[in-house]
Amino acid sequence: MSHLIRVPCSYQGGKQRIAAQIADHLLDVGLGPSTQFYDLCCGSGAVSIELVNRGVDPSRIWMLDVSSWGSFWSAIGAGTFNMDVFERLLAELPSDKRGYKDHMSALSALPTGKDEVELYPLLQACSFGGKQIWRDGERWANACFRDYWEPTATSVRRSPANPMQPGPTELRRRIAAIVNGMRGVNCLNKDIMTILNTPLPSNAVVYVDPPYKSTTKYGFSFDLTTFISRFRAINQAPLFVSEGTPLNDNSLLLTFGGAKGGISGARKGKHQEWLSRF
Ligand SMILES: C[S@@+](CC[C@H](N)C(=O)[O-])C[C@H]1O[C@@H](n2cnc3c(N)ncnc32)[C@H](O)[C@@H]1O
Repeated sequence: MSHLIRVPCSYQGGKQRIAAQIADHLLDVGLGPSTQFYDLCCGSGAVSIELVNRGVDPSRIWMLDVSSWGSFWSAIGAGTFNMDVFERLLAELPSDKRGYKDHMSALSALPTGKDEVELYPLLQACSFGGKQIWRDGERWANACFRDYWEPTATSVRRSPANPMQPGPTELRRRIAAIVNGMRGVNCLNKDIMTILNTPLPSNAVVYVDPPYKSTTKYGFSFDLTTFISRFRAINQAPLFVSEGTPLNDNSLLLTFGGAKGGISGARKGKHQEWLSRF
């Protein structure tokens, strides 16, 4: 499986565990080899990556995110992500993991500079709980990092908790795979509402993964109901929307655990993932 591209790191609301099911639905629309896929609110890119792993050429994918993920994917698509800068940032990590938190806190306190896109995946991989860190003008906002933690004699958890996930070696491997495999992807580092300025082509299939209602806030948001009705008014394209609840009568409950079975998303009281088609 090592040839497959993976998301850089876990991210709040990231779709890596259900990306295969979402991609099945987008590919099932069956508009043929010229279909253009729109991954709006793409974040860490789980759905676009899944499409590329299934053989979709990156040039047929349009990603969009107003946050630093949008800047990151724009640089990846244009081939301007600087691997030397990224490797220097990894090399500058302290040799002892216990020092990561202070190191990352100090880095994130500096004004955002020309290395924003190379620094961002590193910040996000160290983010506490995978929460979104975003750029607010010249500053990083919401930058909270994890401590290295080791179990004591009485702790329930028996393994240490790492301050960075994945660690530097695996993050480097994933980013290198992304640089090679996702080059050519189109990315708009804009507010989602700007996509409503012009109709999309007739061969478009659109997926939107908005911030969910009543979950941890992101640095950005928009009104989903307004977006859907304005989208439908100007576009014919199939529109799929993720949420924690069904949004219409054409909604499917997705399952966690993949083909090998496992925990069903249908269990009462558990977090649910729905895909609604408009
Ligand atoms: C649920 S997350 C997407 C996760 C993504 N699908 C993944 O797999 O990583 C929602 C995303 O919407 C983006 N977002 C929120 N408001 C937005 C807006 N008005 N325009 C564009 N993107 C927005 C956030 O930056 C965040 O990355």
